[in-house]
Amino acid sequence: MRIIVGITGGIAAYKSPQLVRLLRKAGHEVQCVATTHALQFVTQLTLETVSGRSLYYDLFSSANSHSTEHIALKDWGEAMIVAPATANIIGKLASGVADDALSTLMLAFCGKPMLICPAMNSQMWLSQPVQRNVAYLQSLQGVAFAGPEGGDLACGVSGVGRMCEPETIVQFFATAFGPKPLVGQRVLVTAGPTYERIDAVRFVGNYSSGKMGYALAEALAARGAEVELVSGPTHLTVSAPGVKLTRVESAREMFDAATATFPSCSAAILSAAVADYRPDHQANHKLKKNGADGMDLHLVQNPDILATLGTMKTEGQRLIGFALETDNEMQNALAKLERKNLDFIVLNSLKNEGAGFGVDTNQVTIIGRDGRTVDSPLLPKREVANLIVDTCL
Ligand code: C5P
Repeated sequence: MRIIVGITGGIAAYKSPQLVRLLRKAGHEVQCVATTHALQFVTQLTLETVSGRSLYYDLFSSANSHSTEHIALKDWGEAMIVAPATANIIGKLASGVADDALSTLMLAFCGKPMLICPAMNSQMWLSQPVQRNVAYLQSLQGVAFAGPEGGDLACGVSGVGRMCEPETIVQFFATAFGPKPLVGQRVLVTAGPTYERIDAVRFVGNYSSGKMGYALAEALAARGAEVELVSGPTHLTVSAPGVKLTRVESAREMFDAATATFPSCSAAILSAAVADYRPDHQANHKLKKNGADGMDLHLVQNPDILATLGTMKTEGQRLIGFALETDNEMQNALAKLERKNLDFIVLNSLKNEGAGFGVDTNQVTIIGRDGRTVDSPLLPKREVANLIVDTCL
C-alpha cells in the first residue's frame, strides 16, 4: 500500500522512523509528512533516509512539484497513519483547521483510511475538549484510533497517554485497513498454560506465557477472522476487535470450551501448553503439613484437546497443533501430525535460545500434511504468528 505517515511535535516522534521502517519492511511505500514542531524531535534527514522519499513539511516550499502538493499527496496515498498525534493536530482535524502542510493534507484526506495514534500527557488526553474531538473523529468514516496506552510518560508521571509501540501500530493498521482474506471465517485458538488444582491455594502448572497464542489471535483478527480465543491463566489482554476471549483455568475447562466451539469454526490453532496430568484429588481447603515428611501427589491424565478435535474434524475444517520437542524433533512432530489428524504442526525447538516459553521471540518449523515445511528464523512472536497464519490458513 502507499501510506502517508504524519508526524507531529511530541517526544514519541523519536519512534516514528522505526514505524516507517516496519511499514516498509512489510512491503508498503511510505511518504512522511511532518509539522515543523515534529522536526524539533526527529530530523528531516532521518525521515527521508528511512522512507526513501523527500519529506513534505512546508506548504509553500518552492521545492514542491506544484503548489497543491497536499492534493497530489492525497491522491497518491491509499492510507494515512498519524503517529504521534498531538492534542493540537487532533483538535485541528476535528474542527477543520488547515494551517500547515500536515493539517491541510489530513483535511483533504478525510473519508480515506486514517489511523490516528495519540501521544500526550494523560490530563490532556482525558480533558473534555480532547475527548470530545476524539469522539467526533471516531464517528467519521475511515478514521480509526490506536491507543494511547498507559505507562510512564515523558512528563514524569504515569498514566494513559503513551503512543502505542510501532509494532502495535502496524498491527492496528493491518486490523483496521489491511487485506482481509479471512473474513467470514471463525477460528478457535487455545493459548497459555493450564492450572491443575491441588488444593484451595496451590496448583500444578507450567511456564507458558500465552504470548504465542495471543499473537496468533491478533494476526487472525487482522486478516478479518472472527477469533474464539480460549486462554488459560495469563497476564495478557487483547485489544483487537474481532477476538472473543474466554478465560479458563484447567485442562478440563479448556477441553469443554474448545470442543463446544470447534464445530462452528473453520479452523483451530491449538497453541496452549495444556497440562497432561492433574491431581486426582483436588481439595477445597488448604492442605496442612500435618507433621508428615513427604506428600504423595497422584496424577491422572487430562483429556487431549487436540486429539479430540482431530476426531471431531469434518471436511473443510483445518486443525493446527504445536509440538515442543527435545529429542527426535522432526520424527516426533510428524508422528503427532498423523496421530492427532492435523493439517499442520508447528514445531518449537527448546534447543534454540530465545525460542519457546515466556520470551517474546520464537523460532519454528511449520510442517504440512503434504510434507511441505517452512522454517522461520528467530522472530518476534507477532511475526511468527503472521507466518503461521499465512502458511496454514
Ligand atoms: O502431545 P503434545 O502434548 O506434545 O501435543 C502438543 C499439542 O497438543 C499442542 O498443540 C497442545 O496445545 C495440544 N494439547 C492439547 N491437549 C492436551 C495436550 C496437548 O490440546 N491435553
